[in-house]
Amino acid sequence: MPLDIIVGAQWGDEGKGRVVDLLAQRADFTARFNGGDNAGHTVTVGKQTFKLHLIPSGSIHPQSVSVIGNGVVIHPAVLLQEMEVLRSAGIPVNPQRFRISFAANLITPAHRALDAAQEAARGQDKIGTTLRGIGPAYTEKVSRAGLRVGLMLDPDLFRTNLQMHVERINRWLVDFYHAEPIDPKPVVQEYLGYASQLKDYIADVSGLLWDALKRGKCVLAEGAQGTLLDLDHGTYPFVTSSSTVAPGALTGLGLGFSFVGRVIGVTKAFQTRVGSGPFPTEIIDDFAIHLRGTGENPWDEFGTTTGRPRRVGWLDSVLLRYAVRVNGLNELALTKLDILSGLNPLRICTGYRSGGQYFAELPFGPDNLAQYDPVYEDLPGWEGDIRSIRRWEDLPAQARAYVLRIEELCGVPVRLVSVGPEREQVVEFA
Ligand code: IMP
Repeated sequence: MPLDIIVGAQWGDEGKGRVVDLLAQRADFTARFNGGDNAGHTVTVGKQTFKLHLIPSGSIHPQSVSVIGNGVVIHPAVLLQEMEVLRSAGIPVNPQRFRISFAANLITPAHRALDAAQEAARGQDKIGTTLRGIGPAYTEKVSRAGLRVGLMLDPDLFRTNLQMHVERINRWLVDFYHAEPIDPKPVVQEYLGYASQLKDYIADVSGLLWDALKRGKCVLAEGAQGTLLDLDHGTYPFVTSSSTVAPGALTGLGLGFSFVGRVIGVTKAFQTRVGSGPFPTEIIDDFAIHLRGTGENPWDEFGTTTGRPRRVGWLDSVLLRYAVRVNGLNELALTKLDILSGLNPLRICTGYRSGGQYFAELPFGPDNLAQYDPVYEDLPGWEGDIRSIRRWEDLPAQARAYVLRIEELCGVPVRLVSVGPEREQVVEFA
């Protein structure tokens, strides 16, 4: 394993955390390259469940060094709190085991206030953001006014930049959105405090990973969100503001193509989405309740970050094929196959219909997805609990047929199937 990349192949929440957890056992470095604390990765180890938003899920493995790359936007309070949670669970978090890129950008309360004001102003057309300030932080980065992590090494410069940043956002909040301004003073004080706590963790992550890769070390890049939430390639404008696809791992860590190995797309055995936006295979009948669960279990379909119930539907192989293309996936990991037990028939969307025409592929990617009606293929379901199964040949024939049909429709092998929330509840292929 040189540089292996794991990304979500759907709208996020595919169960990437647990696939990362499995592969991170063999990784020297685990790296986050995009997004911020809008992400929520649940990792269950024995009786302990970790909900991580910023620190790579692989950090719970003692042999690996975790890094946050330049492509990430960091809310320092969330980061420090997560560092504490890991420490209190007995997982060491120190500058030998954890580094942050000097070129990552910071999120402040002003970004969050602007996110909320923008969503309120969108009214019916709201995106349904996580209100974590993600969009405004990336907007400032792109407009070359971002607060880079490296600024925290120079308290005077950091103070001036913070002050200017809050004043700049206040103009938007007050003049444009008629919202309450943010008082810069406490923000400046708070952030100077964060700077002193985080300064020893700041590094040239790109250089660190490059040196490690040249020495034959293994790096696992861990994507947040999913392909269909990608700023360029997702269901725009109902997307997040970062690059969620595999090539984003390269720009978001400061690495080129040289060392790329496995590019793994994680997909659920069905489809889910949080927030607004088109979802052609969405279902709202009894089958939906079966897929979503009731919220009693941590693995039920309720957002890790926001607690919102997720929208659910049948697997969409047109969108999955698209994910194979834009990520350059060379394998798939299929999660939550166990949830389909007891449903009959199972449906997979294999094409779309719009205006009397059939589409096997989308003419403009997932743009204007709302105009398409799914065309389904029905497959027989299976009865019984499959959560204790660990070998491919022990899965019910109908379950194997379902997985093989996905491979066939996407042209990429499924190398791992998860059949339950626990670390060991997987069927892995050689
Ligand atoms: P933002 O990233 O908070 O700006 O939200 C933009 C869209 O991405 C919204 O529809 C969110 O629900 C969705 N989103 C952001 N992060 C995640 C995630 O980690 N999982 C699933 N959806 C997400």
